[in-house]
Amino acid sequence: MVDWKEFTVVVLCLILMTSYVVWDNKGAFEFPAMIPRVMNITRLTSSGINDTQSSENTQSSETSLKVGSSEERLMDSIMSHYNMTSVRELQHITRKYFSPKRHIIAMSDLDIFIEKCHTKSFTLRNSKKRCDVTHTPIKRYRTCALIGNGGILLDSGCGAEIDAHEFVIRNNLPPTLPYAKDVGKRTNLTTINRARLAQVARGLRRKKKKDTLARLGESPGMIFSYSLSLPGSPSKKKLEAIDKAIKENNIDAVTAFSHQSYMGNKGYDLYKELFHKRLRLPSTGMNTFALASTFCDRISLYGFYPLSTYKNKTVPYHYYDGKMYNKVHKMPVEFETFQQLHSKGTIRLVVGKCNVTLGEKL
Ligand SMILES: *[C@@H]1O[C@H](CO)[C@@H](O)[C@H](O)[C@H]1NC(C)=O
Ligand SMILES: *[C@@H]1O[C@H](CO)[C@@H](O)[C@H](O)[C@H]1NC(C)=O
Ligand SMILES: *[C@@H]1O[C@H](CO)[C@@H](O)[C@H](O)[C@H]1NC(C)=O
Ligand SMILES: *[C@@H]1O[C@H](CO)[C@@H](O)[C@H](O)[C@H]1NC(C)=O
Ligand SMILES: *[C@@H]1O[C@H](CO)[C@@H](O)[C@H](O)[C@H]1NC(C)=O
Ligand SMILES: *[C@@H]1O[C@H](CO)[C@@H](O)[C@H](O)[C@H]1NC(C)=O
Repeated sequence: MVDWKEFTVVVLCLILMTSYVVWDNKGAFEFPAMIPRVMNITRLTSSGINDTQSSENTQSSETSLKVGSSEERLMDSIMSHYNMTSVRELQHITRKYFSPKRHIIAMSDLDIFIEKCHTKSFTLRNSKKRCDVTHTPIKRYRTCALIGNGGILLDSGCGAEIDAHEFVIRNNLPPTLPYAKDVGKRTNLTTINRARLAQVARGLRRKKKKDTLARLGESPGMIFSYSLSLPGSPSKKKLEAIDKAIKENNIDAVTAFSHQSYMGNKGYDLYKELFHKRLRLPSTGMNTFALASTFCDRISLYGFYPLSTYKNKTVPYHYYDGKMYNKVHKMPVEFETFQQLHSKGTIRLVVGKCNVTLGEKL
């Protein structure tokens, strides 16, 4: 039997959620010791999430329809961390450099893109006008979790908190299910670098096919390669092979590419403008953060921690392969930058344990 009341409420929530569009974001990191445990479960009133956006205000009355589950209380407490003025300042800058329209393009538009547009300038070939023949699978999201693959996530109990975000972004198709308690189960976007792209494409051809398909299935949503340099990129064939495997095996994912690698030197100007300092070779994590800030209202970072110990405990490099740190330059600088953003309420940087009392379900 269908409970129509509940059904109506759920449908209403869905409609409101999908119609909800705001442009707001932040990003910041803090040192482990200074990180406030953002676990105040007091439900925020509408004034608490007054982001000076009218759509936020409609949102608040709808939020109260869904009677306080632990996920919602969790989300409310997370939301209260952000300073939306500061988020908008960040977005104002990152949107000059990145946009999902250019940087996360649906794979199904690859051919028409190559045919009709200049890849570098993203203009139409027959005019100087902006390339308008492609689509992005990205929408705008209220809350995003950006997951680095750092060993700091082991034993963090952050899974439930991560999964409470509307949109979860991971890097390089990491394993999730065996670590769900610490890293969450949801994935909405996975970035994939050149080396990993090659590895996955290879995996699909060999006897590892079954495992590779299983891993792809663990990361539904979008699989996004930011490193194609079109046309004639060797990565193109590999991404196409993954796209084909996804379709043939009914995996609930789409693939996407960028009009040019976002690891390019544009980043130097972006980070100089953003942080008033130069970042030598900004990392994938930093670039993914900047790109995400253009379509996420509020970003939480997990698994970004550059040191080999935390509270006197050894921290492996990744949460999944037991590798230890070798010298990683520049990461501490990026980490400091994220910490500053965290303390301004531009982003949430989560290091260490999450409050598990709210996430008992996992
Ligand atoms: C939780 O937040 C409420 C309102 O934002 C505040 O009044 C209260 O002191 C906070 N409690 C803790 C333990 O931080
Ligand atoms: C919400 O933000 C608007 C616009 O900045 C402001 O005028 C209003 O007083 C705020 N409301 C509350 C309850 O803080
Ligand atoms: C929020 O950020 C803005 C701009 O960065 C700053 O001027 C303001 O003081 C901040 N508000 C709070 C409550 O920290
Ligand atoms: C994010 O992914 C989860 C499954 O991993 C899915 O249930 C959810 O609808 C996705 N959210 C969005 C906004 O696409
Ligand atoms: C960490 O180790 C140092 C030296 O071994 C010790 O002095 C310090 O008390 C330890 N700190 C913690 C938090 O355990
Ligand atoms: C987790 O949150 C609960 C409720 O707010 C609080 O009582 C508890 O002390 C928190 N635990 C940790 C480890 O922060």
